[in-house]
Amino acid sequence: MRTITSQRLTLRPWDADDTDFLLDLEGRWEVVRYLGADPTPMTSRDEALASVERRRAVSEHPIHGIWIITDHAGARLGNLLLKPIPLSAGEGPSDPAEVEIGWHVHPDAWGHGYATEAAVAASADAFARGQSRVIAVTHPDNHASQAVCRRLGMRHVGLTTRYMDTSCELSS
Ligand SMILES: CC(C)(COP(=O)(O)OP(=O)(O)OC[C@H]1O[C@@H](n2cnc3c(N)ncnc32)[C@H](O)[C@@H]1OP(=O)(O)O)[C@@H](O)C(=O)NCCC(=O)NCCS
Repeated sequence: MRTITSQRLTLRPWDADDTDFLLDLEGRWEVVRYLGADPTPMTSRDEALASVERRRAVSEHPIHGIWIITDHAGARLGNLLLKPIPLSAGEGPSDPAEVEIGWHVHPDAWGHGYATEAAVAASADAFARGQSRVIAVTHPDNHASQAVCRRLGMRHVGLTTRYMDTSCELSS
């Protein structure tokens, strides 16, 4: 499991000590409202701890990972993921280039460029390790996340139902 750094940020594997922060982050409607076909805020510490373990398991991969974003002093800011994207029922086969990049920042830390900086660092790390491409999908109403895609220089492809059993805007 690796740690990625950028000018202001550290992306490190989630740890059991981060459970309360994860519950605070993913327990908020404003953070989860645009995620997937049936967005549901996290409600319990047990759920958050299980999610920390799943995030650590993804991060065992040489390229993929789900990292907690902190500043260099260790203050917890959010989550950055890079992993195979779930296909909608009946879609497939999956393509190894269909690796999703995604970001969730705590509302207290919105408006500082942290999502963009973390995504630049994680995608550069993935490209250096041989990943050819990353994609992002956003809920059509999620303008803040679409702005992150634009800041990253991603190309807006358009609406698709190929992923996550819902209709989303695809950027690549
Ligand atoms: C999507 C999300 C991460 C965007 O957060 P964000 O803080 O707006 O995005 P960035 O990190 O790119 O920051 C850009 C903002 O920081 C400002 N900023 C301040 N300092 C900056 C700096 N040094 N560098 C870049 N931007 C900076 C920019 O002006 C911009 O603000 P503006 O939109 O008011 O102009 C956030 O809204 C979120 O966590 N939403 C909930 C989860 C979610 O929907 N995730 C996406 C699922 S697809």
